[in-house]
Amino acid sequence: MRVVVRAPAKINLHLGVGPVRPDGYHELVTVYQALDLLDEVRAEAGPDLAVTVTGEGASDVPLGADNLAVRAARLLADRTGTTAGARLTIRKAIPVAGGMAGGSADAAAALVACDALWGTGLDRDDLGALAAELGSDVPFSLVGGTALGTGRGEQLSPVLARGTYAWVLALAAGGLTTPAVFAAYDTEQRAVWSERADAVLAALRAGDPTALGAALTNDLQEAATRLHPDLRRTLETARELGALGVVVSGSGPTVALLAAGPDAADTLAADLAGRGVCRAVRRAGGPVPGARVVDG
Ligand code: C5P
Repeated sequence: MRVVVRAPAKINLHLGVGPVRPDGYHELVTVYQALDLLDEVRAEAGPDLAVTVTGEGASDVPLGADNLAVRAARLLADRTGTTAGARLTIRKAIPVAGGMAGGSADAAAALVACDALWGTGLDRDDLGALAAELGSDVPFSLVGGTALGTGRGEQLSPVLARGTYAWVLALAAGGLTTPAVFAAYDTEQRAVWSERADAVLAALRAGDPTALGAALTNDLQEAATRLHPDLRRTLETARELGALGVVVSGSGPTVALLAAGPDAADTLAADLAGRGVCRAVRRAGGPVPGARVVDG
């Protein structure tokens, strides 16, 4: 018995970061989009919970109990009283610590895979509640598409989004940890935060990539750039190359460039790779669905 699940990377088209709440999380207003840069989690029956990781940045992924896919499987087992184990194999394509919810994708994929492997039969709402316990981005990794996130990012509402979007991703050397970026953000004396996502939502409603490019917003961009100064050159070069919009993805350090369409994205990706301002360049399209079984 074997279940294979793929789960998407995300970028934040809008990331407004508000005040710190009593529980230590920041109030967020964000618009997520899921991209076809996919991690794969394979779950097979086993005596206990074990994980192996291959692919992009695999050596940086923890293999113990704090591996997010293992935590997801353990949480599902605990809540459903399952005693079965699982051998998890993760094939990574999403950069580790890149601000693209790679760990969250693995957690969402593990929930879906172990639910199918163990026949626990939870519905999507039950899985969503477990996902929210695992991390702020995990519910979105389950759902995918394009969605508005509020609360600490885990409360999702649907967004009317037309069209598909062609992205180029500049992967950075080294990663950033999300708590460090939020902590750096807290040292900025900001009078206002990007509490409203109206411009991004209007662009998505119209299916207008030019308007979307102009509306991309990330309140964490400044903090991420301070912690990872190489990003300044990546951002400047990306703008020079004529992308419709350029934004740091989530807490970074991946930079997302929006192109007018697939051909423009191919050209942009080749030009960016030629400039040597990042570790690697990837093409991706969105929106795509969330974590789902691809092979039983
Ligand atoms: O929820 P998740 O585990 O992904 O969050 C990781 C860290 O990011 C949190 O511990 C916190 O430091 C920061 N964070 C935050 N506000 C949010 C989401 C995350 O401060 N809304």
